Amino acid sequence: MVPDPLVDAALAARGAAYAPYSRFAVGAALRTVDGAVYAGCNVENAAYPEGTCAEAGAIAAMVLAGGRRIAEMVVAGGGATPCTPCGGCRQKLREFGTSATLVRIVDTAGKPLLHIGLAELLPHSFGPENLMERGAS
Ligand code: THU
Repeated sequence: MVPDPLVDAALAARGAAYAPYSRFAVGAALRTVDGAVYAGCNVENAAYPEGTCAEAGAIAAMVLAGGRRIAEMVVAGGGATPCTPCGGCRQKLREFGTSATLVRIVDTAGKPLLHIGLAELLPHSFGPENLMERGAS
Protein backbone atom coordinates (compact mmCIF):
# COMPACT_ATOMS: atom_id res chain seq x y z
CA MET A 1 0.00 0.00 0.00
CA VAL A 2 1.18 3.56 -0.76
CA PRO A 3 2.42 5.31 2.43
CA ASP A 4 -0.23 7.67 3.75
CA PRO A 5 0.69 9.65 6.90
CA LEU A 6 -2.92 10.63 7.59
CA VAL A 7 -4.04 7.00 7.50
CA ASP A 8 -1.13 6.03 9.76
CA ALA A 9 -2.09 8.78 12.22
CA ALA A 10 -5.73 7.66 12.25
CA LEU A 11 -4.75 4.04 12.86
CA ALA A 12 -2.35 5.02 15.64
CA ALA A 13 -5.08 7.12 17.25
CA ARG A 14 -7.48 4.20 16.99
CA GLY A 15 -4.97 2.16 18.98
CA ALA A 16 -5.31 4.65 21.83
CA ALA A 17 -9.13 4.63 21.87
CA TYR A 18 -10.88 4.21 25.22
CA ALA A 19 -14.01 2.28 24.27
CA PRO A 20 -14.65 -0.35 26.97
CA TYR A 21 -18.43 -0.02 26.68
CA SER A 22 -19.08 -0.19 22.94
CA ARG A 23 -15.83 -2.06 22.21
CA PHE A 24 -15.82 -0.06 18.98
CA ALA A 25 -12.50 1.73 18.70
CA VAL A 26 -12.27 4.68 16.33
CA GLY A 27 -9.35 6.88 15.32
CA ALA A 28 -9.44 10.05 13.28
CA ALA A 29 -6.73 12.25 11.83
CA LEU A 30 -7.15 15.52 10.01
CA ARG A 31 -4.90 17.69 7.90
CA THR A 32 -5.43 21.43 7.92
CA VAL A 33 -5.09 23.60 4.84
CA ASP A 34 -1.68 24.60 6.27
CA GLY A 35 -0.57 20.96 6.32
CA ALA A 36 -0.67 20.36 10.07
CA VAL A 37 -1.97 16.97 11.26
CA TYR A 38 -4.07 16.38 14.39
CA ALA A 39 -5.53 13.12 15.62
CA GLY A 40 -8.13 11.95 18.10
CA CYS A 41 -9.77 8.78 19.39
CA ASN A 42 -13.13 8.03 20.92
CA VAL A 43 -13.25 8.35 24.70
CA GLU A 44 -16.18 6.70 26.44
CA ASN A 45 -17.27 6.75 30.05
CA ALA A 46 -19.73 4.99 32.35
CA ALA A 47 -22.40 7.62 31.64
CA TYR A 48 -22.74 6.35 28.08
CA PRO A 49 -24.07 9.45 26.26
CA GLU A 50 -21.20 11.54 27.58
CA GLY A 51 -18.57 9.79 25.48
CA THR A 52 -16.83 11.69 22.71
CA CYS A 53 -16.08 10.66 19.13
CA ALA A 54 -12.65 10.37 17.54
CA GLU A 55 -13.48 13.14 15.06
CA ALA A 56 -14.39 15.52 17.88
CA GLY A 57 -11.07 14.78 19.59
CA ALA A 58 -9.09 15.55 16.46
CA ILE A 59 -10.99 18.78 15.90
CA ALA A 60 -10.45 19.84 19.52
CA ALA A 61 -6.70 19.20 19.18
CA MET A 62 -6.63 21.31 16.01
CA VAL A 63 -8.49 24.22 17.61
CA LEU A 64 -6.27 24.12 20.70
CA ALA A 65 -3.22 24.46 18.43
CA GLY A 66 -4.76 27.39 16.57
CA GLY A 67 -5.85 25.50 13.44
CA ARG A 68 -9.15 26.50 11.90
CA ARG A 69 -9.56 24.98 8.39
CA ILE A 70 -9.77 21.26 7.65
CA ALA A 71 -8.63 20.09 4.22
CA GLU A 72 -9.06 16.38 4.82
CA MET A 73 -9.98 13.90 7.53
CA VAL A 74 -9.38 10.16 7.72
CA VAL A 75 -11.55 8.02 10.01
CA ALA A 76 -10.54 4.49 10.96
CA GLY A 77 -13.23 2.31 12.49
CA GLY A 78 -13.88 -1.39 12.73
CA GLY A 79 -15.77 -3.70 10.39
CA ALA A 80 -16.38 -3.67 6.67
CA THR A 81 -19.08 -1.00 6.81
CA PRO A 82 -17.49 2.46 6.52
CA CYS A 83 -17.39 4.23 9.89
CA THR A 84 -18.84 7.49 8.67
CA PRO A 85 -18.92 10.44 11.10
CA CYS A 86 -22.08 10.69 13.21
CA GLY A 87 -24.48 13.58 12.68
CA GLY A 88 -22.93 15.68 15.44
CA CYS A 89 -19.43 15.21 14.06
CA ARG A 90 -20.60 16.12 10.56
CA GLN A 91 -21.73 19.44 11.98
CA LYS A 92 -18.41 19.90 13.79
CA LEU A 93 -16.59 19.19 10.53
CA ARG A 94 -18.85 21.68 8.80
CA GLU A 95 -17.77 24.43 11.19
CA PHE A 96 -14.12 24.07 10.20
CA GLY A 97 -14.43 22.57 6.71
CA THR A 98 -14.80 24.05 3.25
CA SER A 99 -16.70 23.03 0.14
CA ALA A 100 -13.52 21.11 -0.81
CA THR A 101 -13.07 19.20 2.47
CA LEU A 102 -12.71 15.47 1.94
CA VAL A 103 -13.47 12.63 4.36
CA ARG A 104 -11.90 9.22 3.88
CA ILE A 105 -12.96 6.15 5.78
CA VAL A 106 -10.53 3.26 6.13
CA ASP A 107 -10.66 -0.14 7.78
CA THR A 108 -8.38 -1.41 10.54
CA ALA A 109 -5.70 -2.23 7.98
CA GLY A 110 -5.88 1.20 6.39
CA LYS A 111 -7.74 -0.07 3.33
CA PRO A 112 -9.94 2.66 1.81
CA LEU A 113 -13.68 2.04 2.21
CA LEU A 114 -15.19 5.40 1.29
CA HIS A 115 -13.99 8.73 -0.07
CA ILE A 116 -16.61 11.46 0.15
CA GLY A 117 -16.91 15.23 0.21
CA LEU A 118 -18.18 16.99 3.31
CA ALA A 119 -20.88 18.69 1.25
CA GLU A 120 -22.21 15.26 0.31
CA LEU A 121 -22.01 14.01 3.89
CA LEU A 122 -23.96 17.00 5.18
CA PRO A 123 -26.04 18.50 2.36
CA HIS A 124 -27.97 21.75 2.81
CA SER A 125 -26.01 22.35 5.97
CA PHE A 126 -26.38 25.16 8.45
CA GLY A 127 -23.14 27.00 9.13
CA PRO A 128 -21.54 30.21 10.38
CA GLU A 129 -22.65 32.06 7.23
CA ASN A 130 -26.27 31.59 8.20
CA LEU A 131 -25.66 33.59 11.35
CA MET A 132 -24.21 36.46 9.31
CA GLU A 133 -27.69 36.98 7.88
CA ARG A 134 -29.37 37.77 11.18
CA GLY A 135 -29.83 41.38 10.17
CA ALA A 136 -31.88 43.82 12.21
CA SER A 137 -35.25 42.11 11.85
N1 THU B 1 -17.72 6.77 17.13
C1 THU B 1 -16.71 7.60 16.73
O1 THU B 1 -15.79 7.91 17.50
N2 THU B 1 -16.76 8.09 15.47
C2 THU B 1 -17.68 7.72 14.53
O2 THU B 1 -17.58 8.16 13.39
C3 THU B 1 -18.78 6.83 14.89
C4 THU B 1 -18.83 6.40 16.29
C5 THU B 1 -17.63 6.20 18.48
C6 THU B 1 -18.62 6.69 19.49
C7 THU B 1 -18.65 5.53 20.46
O3 THU B 1 -17.57 5.66 21.37
C8 THU B 1 -18.40 4.31 19.59
O4 THU B 1 -17.81 4.80 18.40
C9 THU B 1 -19.67 3.53 19.26
O5 THU B 1 -20.65 4.36 18.78
